[in-house]
Amino acid sequence: MQAPSELIRDVYDLYIGGEWIPSTDDERFPTVDPATKEPLTKVAAAKAADIDRAVEAAREAFAIWRDTAPDERGRIVHRIGQLVRKHRDGLAALESLDQGKPLSQAESDMEGAARYFEYYAGAADKLEGTSVPVGPEQVDFTVREPYGISAQIIPWNFPGNLFARGVAPALVAGNTVVVKPAEETPLSSLRLAELCEEAGVPDGVVNVVTGFGDPAGKALSSHPDVDTITFTGSVSTGQTIMKQAADNVTPVTLELGGKNPAVVFPDADLEEAANWISKAIFTNAGQVCSAADRVLIHEDIHDDLVDRIVEQAVGYEIGSGSENPDMGPLASEKQFKKVIRYIDLGREEGATLATGGNALNRDGYFVEPTVFTDVENDMRIAQEEIFGPVLTIIPFTDEAEALELANDVEYGLVAGVFTSDVKRAHQFARQLEAGNVYVNKWFGDTNQTPFGGYKASGIGREKGLEALNSYLQTKNIAVNLAEGNSGDLPGT
Ligand code: NAI
Ligand code: MG
Repeated sequence: MQAPSELIRDVYDLYIGGEWIPSTDDERFPTVDPATKEPLTKVAAAKAADIDRAVEAAREAFAIWRDTAPDERGRIVHRIGQLVRKHRDGLAALESLDQGKPLSQAESDMEGAARYFEYYAGAADKLEGTSVPVGPEQVDFTVREPYGISAQIIPWNFPGNLFARGVAPALVAGNTVVVKPAEETPLSSLRLAELCEEAGVPDGVVNVVTGFGDPAGKALSSHPDVDTITFTGSVSTGQTIMKQAADNVTPVTLELGGKNPAVVFPDADLEEAANWISKAIFTNAGQVCSAADRVLIHEDIHDDLVDRIVEQAVGYEIGSGSENPDMGPLASEKQFKKVIRYIDLGREEGATLATGGNALNRDGYFVEPTVFTDVENDMRIAQEEIFGPVLTIIPFTDEAEALELANDVEYGLVAGVFTSDVKRAHQFARQLEAGNVYVNKWFGDTNQTPFGGYKASGIGREKGLEALNSYLQTKNIAVNLAEGNSGDLPGT
């Protein structure tokens, strides 16, 4: 691993219009290593005036980028992917320090980031419209045009990966972007901006403004010259962003997390199910929107499967992300306190701690892999997103009950079913209220597959070709071929 000094500058400015510039009031704030609580560096704290500057730069660059030939746009975006691949290890080391995740998981994030740029690069020159057959008197066709300025408000759980997930489709569609990374994890976005520049992205096409939700995020999502907003984070911040966007009628794409049920039937391969579920709840210390955090287990196999999951949990090696353990710390003090509060709440609500439940007695925001059994579906630990290494297990007796419990939650991001019965697998997949369903596995979505929430889990889709719909608006063009003007009236 590279030494931190080679990876991290002493201070960072804002990246606006292809230049590094301090914030208007020169204020900076530290970002810390959650494994030690030590500051890594300081980044600029953007204010509303800085957001104005970034949006102006993005506006100036828009016409040039929009009118760049699509194949050339694709080549530039592909180069970003190649550079991310080339610098994967450095990016991963940086992410691991700033966010806390194990190095191997950060490497996988950056691999995925490279894939997003490569995948969408190939779409740049295939964003075709349609021709509509309305008869001989009119030529009618659609074109897909970029919105203009895409604001990307990014959370702290997969910062570099989610930068790529949003920026890559925005760019190939011809938009310019203003990215606001989470205040906890700004470093990978700043590094990725450098790589965009190196790849030949023109000045002003990608801008990165570090800062807090309020004022920076708020100024960005309420900015009258922003044309579309992509946000990943909590439901409540998503709702606030929608309200901030409403005054300007700015469209939003929201990915708001989940409380995702995994349903396990007695005919499932229990060893495989235990492996998937452990991975699905303890990866990134549970700070994953698609974590399997609500496991429903048939009573006949309940104790057996719980034992297997507990055995895995107990075996988890915990440490600083840079040592590449099985699990790192939580990403921030705020998240650490939230997770500890939920563990206390689980005890108060009467659930049984099968394992874990404690913070580690060391510096850094470490919490043990934790498994609660005897959970009732109406407990808050079964309904609310904890976003930590905390699994809640609910028993069930038959299929109907399993389905009812699985869907009885305000979220609807992902869900899964473990069974060897093909009919049951398909029937469940259809009836689960979630944007993504996994059968006999977890994290089954890829860069190529649409991803997003039903119910309170969000609006719109990320990933796959479907994500391009968030970055393109349809224009229909009607050309008259007829003589005279005796033709159409509205509504026909
Ligand atoms: P958050 O949703 O408040 O923060 C995410 C991003 O939104 C950050 O960049 C933040 O600066 C920005 N933001 C905050 N307030 C804003 C505002 N008024 N206008 C515009 N942007 C704003 O999430 P937070 O508080 O960091 O985490 C709380 C919970 O959210 C977590 O415990 C977890 O349950 C959930 N979460 C879900 C994620 C997901 O992947 N769906 C990712 C991160 C958090
Ligand atoms: Mg940090």
